[in-house]
Amino acid sequence: MGLSLLLPLLLLLATLQAGNSERCDPKMDYRMDQPEHLSAPKGGTIHINFTFYYCGALAKDPRVNIALRRTHFHGQFIYNSSRHFVHEDYKDRIVLNLPEGQKSGFLQILNLREEDENTYFCRVQLKTQRFGWQLWQSILGTKLTVYLAPKTTTKGPTSTVTTTTGLSVLEGNRTSVSLPLSVGAVVKVALAIAVLKTAILGLTLYLRWKTSKGLQTTARTVARGSLQNTEEKYENIGI
Ligand SMILES: *[C@@H]1O[C@H](CO)[C@@H](O)[C@H](O)[C@H]1NC(C)=O
Ligand SMILES: *[C@@H]1O[C@H](CO)[C@@H](O)[C@H](O)[C@H]1NC(C)=O
Repeated sequence: MGLSLLLPLLLLLATLQAGNSERCDPKMDYRMDQPEHLSAPKGGTIHINFTFYYCGALAKDPRVNIALRRTHFHGQFIYNSSRHFVHEDYKDRIVLNLPEGQKSGFLQILNLREEDENTYFCRVQLKTQRFGWQLWQSILGTKLTVYLAPKTTTKGPTSTVTTTTGLSVLEGNRTSVSLPLSVGAVVKVALAIAVLKTAILGLTLYLRWKTSKGLQTTARTVARGSLQNTEEKYENIGI
């Protein structure tokens, strides 16, 4: 009877012991998981999903903040949520999504450029109950590949417009489709303006040429007229 009571008690104690933060080594037992590799087209958006883990208890207000580094583990900081810092290369293009109290979220890089191709390291800082502020970072980071959208077959002088429209198809995003289309429209308007300008220039030149020709004719007529008058005068004098 004594043993049948003792056994569950021992099990309970063992479980409590395992869950105890004494067993948690904050120097060792933490993680930042993020995908090893991601790829997206130029102009597209990337989601770097991350999950952080800490074995011990967090402070009541853990004040979680996330930073992002590029190139290598000790690379340049390009984002810091607590400072609202975004590196100028990524101005208005980095968005953090980390719901309050969650340990998973994502960092978005919008409107991808070719030069964004790099490795990105997520870093987290938070307040723990027993060990104060703790800070750790992914070791491998996420290697991002930015590829060019395949060009559609182009014909003649409209190649710029066709290429831009081809980009939008790959994005598969309705809101972003409107951008390349409007770029096409802008090109068309610019072309119309150029044609109009050329026409106006041609017309101006033609008119100027015609006016100057007309003026020359008038000048010649006037000269001839005055010559005739002089001749007449001389004739009159002669007479
Ligand atoms: C990233 O997380 C979102 C949900 O937050 C999910 O829909 C998406 O599929 C994830 N992406 C990757 C590449 O794991
Ligand atoms: C964000 O910046 C602050 C102030 O420089 C720094 O104390 C903090 O550690 C940074 N956060 C991360 C996650 O690196």
